[in-house]
Parts: sequence; structure tokens; C-alpha cells
Amino acid sequence: MIYGLARHAFAPLNGAMPRPPRRHSHRPAERPTKPPRQGWDPVAAWYDKLVGDAGSDYHQNVIIPACLKMLDAQAGESVIDICCGQGVLAHALRDAKLKRYLGIDASPRLIDAARQRHGQNDQIRWLVADACQSGSWADGSHDAAACIMAVHDVEDLTGLFRNLAHSLRIGGRAIIIQMHPCFRIPRQSHWGWDADQKIQYRRLDAYSTAQNIEVVTHPSQSQGQHTHFFHRPLSQLLTSMGQAGLACVACEELHSHRRSQVGPFSKAEHRAAAEFPLFLAIKTIRQI
Ligand SMILES: C[S@@+](CC[C@H](N)C(=O)[O-])C[C@H]1O[C@@H](n2cnc3c(N)ncnc32)[C@H](O)[C@@H]1O
Repeated sequence: MIYGLARHAFAPLNGAMPRPPRRHSHRPAERPTKPPRQGWDPVAAWYDKLVGDAGSDYHQNVIIPACLKMLDAQAGESVIDICCGQGVLAHALRDAKLKRYLGIDASPRLIDAARQRHGQNDQIRWLVADACQSGSWADGSHDAAACIMAVHDVEDLTGLFRNLAHSLRIGGRAIIIQMHPCFRIPRQSHWGWDADQKIQYRRLDAYSTAQNIEVVTHPSQSQGQHTHFFHRPLSQLLTSMGQAGLACVACEELHSHRRSQVGPFSKAEHRAAAEFPLFLAIKTIRQI
């Protein structure tokens, strides 16, 4: 989820807390029923419209340029885009003269949107697949892989990195770009204003505990459409990559390109935008 692109409300994690069992009752405590997870399909139309062909403004100005630079795709290469969504990276790679581009995503509706936007032929293909489960795509044949703005949307980090590594040939490279885990945690990180020092500061309420945070994407919808954001501290992310055989060879911390209007807070806002990165970009190489 690209927070800050659209109006987002952050609902409480679970609604009502489970009640404790009554004393003297032999019946098991009732558990609140949770609807099954539907992933990104229910919000696919909204996301496809938000991102469009060329990407959101963060895609266009920050994420895609960093990804292209780190990926350094060469003519004749095979690239896999894991959790490709509606195919925004395919648009950016359209002139790269790749031999093969394969986009995979768990959402059938987003894969449909990708096919409609970018077509499908021998050179560009789309597949509905769970990146955490091994499949024909994790076959060691790709020169490079990208996984952008999605690691925090995936529940099984170990499975994701294992299959990402297996999709690459040994020596192949993977670029992972995600919300910065130290500064951008839904409901746990906020801006604050220190009136005495006239600085805009970043407040963190939690960081070290991995969290599953429900994020409402469509506050206006009566059903309250939502996705899940899986926050993990940096140590967990890097260790999982290493355990999957992915060695980190470069890291960039990406800042917002947005600048506020001239006004009494603009100096402090510019400083804060330059001090606190929005996204974390990591380049890894498959070792084993
Ligand atoms: C915020 S979107 C990013 C999509 C795209 N990379 C982009 O930058 O627009 C997160 C994507 O992760 C996908 N996703 C989440 N869990 C997945 C899984 N287990 N396997 C494959 N895709 C998954 C969702 O379907 C969604 O398309």
C-alpha cells in the first residue's frame, strides 16, 4: 500500500475484543468470527485507477526511477516482477528490449488489469500466483527480479524470499522496495510539531514488534474495504533475505519528492522531508 497517495483511515486492528469465558460455564469461549482474507481483489479496481499506466506520483518520481537504476536491466535479459499488481513496472520497462518479462500476483483482478493495460505475448506474460508458494515461475531462470511496494503486503516473509531467490539464476539480482520500516509504520508513526524548536519531528510509537495492521483503503465504502500491512523490523527483513540466500549489495533510502507550499512551516517541512526517508530500496544477489 502506498500510504499518503489517497485518503486513508486506519481502523482499529480487530474491532471488538474477544470476551473472557463466563465462570462456571463449560462451553468454550466464543471467538469473534473474522471474514476470510481476500487479499487485493476487492480493492483492485480502486488500485488500478490510482496507479494508472505510468504509476502514482510516488511511483513516477521516486520508486520507479530507483528501481530502474538498481535493476539495470539489459537487453535480452529475463525479468520477473513479483507482486506486480496491475503491471506498473512493465510500463517502465517497455523500452528495455527484454527477452522476457513475467509479472506474478495473487490478485486475479489485478492480473486481468495488467493484461488489459499491457497485453500478453511471448515477451510479456502474466500469472496469478501466490508468491509464498513454490510454482513454475520459481525456476532459477531469471536474470533479475523486482518486488516493489509489496513485501509489507505479504504475510509469509520466509516463503516470499525463498521463492524470490529460487526464481533467479545464481548471481541474479533482486530489487526490493518497500515502505521504510523504521519511519513509515501505519498507525505507529506520525508527524509532530515542536513549537519551541520549530521543527517537524517524526514520532514512533512502536517499531521492534512485528505487527499485522489492518488498513482501510476505501473509507467511503460501507463495507470498509481493507488490506493488511505486515510491519517487520529491519533485522527481521535482512535476516530473512540472508536466510533465503539473497546477499544485500546496495541499499538506498528514498525521500519524498513532494515539497510544501511557501509558508510559515515550509522550511521545517522541507527539512523533515529530507531527513526522514519514505521508502527503503535494497539490491540483493542470489548466492546459493
Ligand atoms: C501495494 S500493491 C503493489 C503492486 C505493484 N508492485 C505496484 O507497485 O503497484 C501490493 C501487491 O502485492 C500483492 N500480493 C500480496 N500478497 C501476495 C502474495 N502472497 N502473492 C502474490 N502477490 C501478493 C497484492 O495482490 C498487490 O498487488
